[in-house]
Amino acid sequence: MNRSAALQHRWIATACLLLVFATTLIFYWPDVPFVGHNAAVNVPSLTSSFRPANHGLVKPAGVPVIGLIFFGRRDRVEVLRCYLERNLVTNGGWLDEIQWVRNTHDEKDLAYLRDDILPSNPLYTEIDISEMPGSDQQDPAYENAWTKLRRGAIYIKIDDDVVFIGEDTIPRMVDLRVKDPSIFTVSANVINSPLMGWVHYHGGAMHPYLPEFPVDKSHHIPKLESTPWAYTSHPNWTGDADWGFYAEDAVPEHYHRWLRMTESGDSLPSSTAALMQRTPITKIQYDTWGTGLRSWSIAAQEHYSFLENLHDDPSLDIYKLSKIWTTDYERLSINMIAVLSDDILDNMPMTGVVDGKDNTPIADEEWLTVVMPRKLGRQVVVETDALVVHFSFRTQSGLFRTDLLGRYADFARREVCIGRSE
Ligand SMILES: *[C@@H]1O[C@H](CO)[C@@H](O)[C@H](O)[C@H]1NC(C)=O
Repeated sequence: MNRSAALQHRWIATACLLLVFATTLIFYWPDVPFVGHNAAVNVPSLTSSFRPANHGLVKPAGVPVIGLIFFGRRDRVEVLRCYLERNLVTNGGWLDEIQWVRNTHDEKDLAYLRDDILPSNPLYTEIDISEMPGSDQQDPAYENAWTKLRRGAIYIKIDDDVVFIGEDTIPRMVDLRVKDPSIFTVSANVINSPLMGWVHYHGGAMHPYLPEFPVDKSHHIPKLESTPWAYTSHPNWTGDADWGFYAEDAVPEHYHRWLRMTESGDSLPSSTAALMQRTPITKIQYDTWGTGLRSWSIAAQEHYSFLENLHDDPSLDIYKLSKIWTTDYERLSINMIAVLSDDILDNMPMTGVVDGKDNTPIADEEWLTVVMPRKLGRQVVVETDALVVHFSFRTQSGLFRTDLLGRYADFARREVCIGRSE
């Protein structure tokens, strides 16, 4: 598109956004008082393409929607922050407030929370758990934060390394939870989640990718500098037709990227099916503790495939089933979930029977997706149309040797962050 056409498009987009913003103000004004601020905030310079989208869903009146972030790592939170900002009511989203929970003792990371994040928006607050038992330990007892929820609210708990949130993800999660009281926990449809990765693979959402080979050791890929997010900005994979990389393979020593293998129609040796056999994803399992959790290379292929899907069809329909997926008390990773605060508070503390002993402390994930729902006979469901990407589990540190975080940061900067594009 030439320059003047681009300018014209930008003007039209800006006008539309102002209209949307004005409409949103009218719609949300009556809901605002409980956050303690009115909507008189600066009109952000919405220059990028991401828009909160409700698809006709109506935000429930009188029920605050509060984001709950377990904050620990600055490099990842920088990406998430752009999506959070986009989802605030003041920007047309459904989040009335965001509560940050300190989940680290790292001074530099804490300073970022205290001096940069919290003062940046009046809708940001902190849940202070510093006086609570266990908070001085190496791994802060952040599960205490669950006892500090505000009654009568929907909470969206979001891991600090969620690096993509769909435009309609939060409205869809909230709407489902509000309309169906039999549900205890609603999960987003998480890319890089041990259970859902298997569903995505068998639904055709994965593509053949391999690490660049041989790795060009002089080519340093900066982690957060601008690595173009679009797979079409990178070359195709080249190499031996019998070389592959598998689920259990070790992490290369150097930063590297993964590249798309070239398909040639339906015929061997480069049919899609044949190429996939040389990649890690074929070993993914539907198992909370299985390869989808343990294998960094399976996670890498899930991420590179996601970025390709995002590029080729931003609706991301390839992941969506237009219905819920029930987990039936298989433990589900809680990278992004919606819960009603009263459900949690009424059933505290997070304990249960372990090895025949009652009142044993239970990890929040187990409690929220297995123990308490089963005890109450309530459902745990994945809203498959509500997409998010979760960057990594501790077992997948190999992802930090790739340029993936840089690609997500690039996408966020270009398409999502308010007032920061260009
Ligand atoms: C990669 O391969 C595809 C399919 O053969 C082709 O259309 C595309 O142009 C190639 N990309 C590059 C950067 O060479």
